[in-house]
Amino acid sequence: MNVAVIGSGTMGNGIAHVFAQHGFAVALIDINQPALDKGLATIGKNLDRQVSKGSLAETDKTATLGRISTHTSLSEGVLNADLVVEAATENVELKLNIFREIDQYAPEHAILATNTSSISITRIAAVTKRPTQVIGMHFMNPVPVMKLVEVIRGYATSDEVTARVMEMSRQLGKTPTEVNDYPGFVANRILMPMINEAIITLHEGVAGVEEIDTVMKLGMAHPMGPLQLADFIGLDVCLAIMRVLHDGLGNPKYAPCPLLVNMVMAGRLGVKSGEGFYSWTHGTKELVLAERFKR
Ligand SMILES: NC(=O)c1ccc[n+]([C@@H]2O[C@H](COP(=O)([O-])OP(=O)(O)OC[C@H]3O[C@@H](n4cnc5c(N)ncnc54)[C@H](O)[C@@H]3O)[C@@H](O)[C@H]2O)c1
Repeated sequence: MNVAVIGSGTMGNGIAHVFAQHGFAVALIDINQPALDKGLATIGKNLDRQVSKGSLAETDKTATLGRISTHTSLSEGVLNADLVVEAATENVELKLNIFREIDQYAPEHAILATNTSSISITRIAAVTKRPTQVIGMHFMNPVPVMKLVEVIRGYATSDEVTARVMEMSRQLGKTPTEVNDYPGFVANRILMPMINEAIITLHEGVAGVEEIDTVMKLGMAHPMGPLQLADFIGLDVCLAIMRVLHDGLGNPKYAPCPLLVNMVMAGRLGVKSGEGFYSWTHGTKELVLAERFKR
């Protein structure tokens, strides 16, 4: 079984890792060799961690790496694929172009999946000549650790293709869950309004950053508070998904909090920019409030 993974960033290298570890031949595709080398280095590091924890044998690590080939040409990389999983940058036009190209070069029988967090599967499927074979395969970060695959059926996705993707996800040791294609699917439709509400709660002065995160951590047994999680996801990503929900569902309850909008405009994006609700300039191990939110 041959799998092509498009994009070797945060999600793509994790997706390539789990497929290769479970015996699939993986063609990993990105736009240049440095991006591929970085993805492979991350896979190597994560496999080393599994070996040192005792959850993977050294020989399995070598075999896993041996199943991954790298390609800078998309048309070559997808040529023998039975399944293509697209995990390139979250941008509609970019993804539509990638799917037009995959559709042209991948074998006729190949299933085309996307790991998009927020773009309509139906819209992506519509630019191909095989909409019944296009589906969402939404892995969670970090891919080798997280059990869920949200399997998203587009308007035209067939029962057979859905069943095959559910089965392949199980072969990876994951728990696939079938949902339909509406804005935010299930994961982000529920998670993002919760994060947005936490920001509204802060904005209205109901409580401070630490208090909000403590209530949700200790009171709801969440592993981290919603504001810390927003910093990890990236406030720009949270805002973009809230806009998809607001535009797509047309309900004012999904309006992004003005504080979230302001923080994104100010470049305070969370971990990736060094500051969001917390300050991350010292690393991600310790929680330090951003200067602005100290009370
Ligand atoms: N990061 C997350 O927590 C997360 C979780 C679930 C889903 N997603 C989704 O996964 C996808 C990838 O996100 P990411 O966080 O891994 O992004 P990323 O920025 O880490 O990686 C994207 C990769 O795609 C590559 N790329 C861009 N254009 C390409 C092209 N034309 N052909 C081949 N490769 C190309 C880039 O060079 C980069 O290496 C997005 O659709 C995102 O919404 C992300």
